[in-house]
Amino acid sequence: MCNFEVIMKRMFKHKFTVVYATLFCLLGASLLNFKSVAPAEDYQPEAYVYEVLRDLGATLPAYYPEKLNPDDVQRGKDIVFFGRTKNPKGGKSAYISLYYMCTNCHNTVMEDPNLANNSDPEARLDFAIKNNIPFLQGTTFYGIANRETWYNDDYYKKYGDLVKPANNDLRQAIQLCGKECSKGRYLEDWEETAVLAYYLSISYRLQDILTTAQIAELNSKKNNAAQHPELIKWIKSFYALKSPAAFVEPPYENGNSLPVGDPARGKALYELSCQTCHKAYGCSDNVFDNSSFTFKKFNRDFDKDYWWLFKSVRHGYYGYPGHDPYMPHYTAERMSDKQVMDLKAYFQQQAGS
Ligand code: HEC
Ligand code: HEC
Repeated sequence: MCNFEVIMKRMFKHKFTVVYATLFCLLGASLLNFKSVAPAEDYQPEAYVYEVLRDLGATLPAYYPEKLNPDDVQRGKDIVFFGRTKNPKGGKSAYISLYYMCTNCHNTVMEDPNLANNSDPEARLDFAIKNNIPFLQGTTFYGIANRETWYNDDYYKKYGDLVKPANNDLRQAIQLCGKECSKGRYLEDWEETAVLAYYLSISYRLQDILTTAQIAELNSKKNNAAQHPELIKWIKSFYALKSPAAFVEPPYENGNSLPVGDPARGKALYELSCQTCHKAYGCSDNVFDNSSFTFKKFNRDFDKDYWWLFKSVRHGYYGYPGHDPYMPHYTAERMSDKQVMDLKAYFQQQAGS
């Protein structure tokens, strides 16, 4: 049975639907279009560099989270400063290491005045003196998540094949240091996630690496996708992408041409470096205090072996039986030969010779 009226009504309805749908689509398309040509919001000075890079299309490690979880950040910070934290399941987690905190060997703040050059121990010492921060064997965690390779260069000589996975993966670098450098254990997945989140929370922000004018320049160029690859390169040129590491021997054969040490700088090194571990309840059993007895002992060590201080700095020490903590050596980037001479000059001055 065919009802003409109904068919007409349906057709009409249909027609209106088509008309409405078309109008709707046009409107929608223009809105969408509008959205894509409108300038996106400017990057703020406190924006994280890694987020800006990701926004510009740079490839970041897939394990860098989409959004930082504040609970993870807090747990990671606890692990770095106190060696343990609250387990997400309740209760306290086990210590990563029985002997060290990560902060015994690593700062968590800026330590190089020029972020593009993290291999200048003289500039770092000046900065450490000015800001009263430790001068250590490990590199700072500040900006560690902005680096692109870890345990670089000569570190394979110390840890062999263990460094290979750590070279290109920050998570593996965390594990290597938790287990080997800090004589502890591997971290559980949630602990690794937490430390990584903490690292990202202390990674560079735009204002740490760019001036106000440079941030404005970035904002003026960012809506032109063709410029993104250049912008990414430009941003990365303001900080070091790795921490170079050269293992060196005491300069035995150049002994006669060594620079003259400066005792004032030696004092700073003694206090900001050696004494951060060689103190009461520190991670070494050997307390280096400021008594003339201690400095006289150092002097007797020099009488026995002119190179003992160089050897201590360049080789570090194994722990002794029954006492696991060891002393990490200083690479050329972490202490210069001149600085060893500064220390020597200070010891001799204090011993009264
Ligand atoms: C006894 C000293 C010591 C302790 C404790 C220590 N580290 Fe390290 N760590 C080092 C040294 C030395 C290096 C190699 C130099 C460097 O930082 O690049 C290093 C390197 C690293 C690196 C790679 C850095 C890079 O850019 O190459 C990471 C990541 C790291 N440690 C994480 C940790 C964490 C997490 C802890 C605490 C659970 C910790 N470390 C505790 C000495 C230590
Ligand atoms: C990260 C911690 C740390 C730092 C920093 C550090 N040491 Fe050590 N040092 C140790 C540990 C641990 C030992 C090995 C065993 C012990 O004393 O507990 C050690 C051992 C030594 C020894 C051998 C002591 C002995 O009689 O067996 C000397 C000498 C020494 N350190 C000198 C220095 C000097 C000089 C500096 C500064 C340039 C320095 N250390 C910085 C941790 C450190």
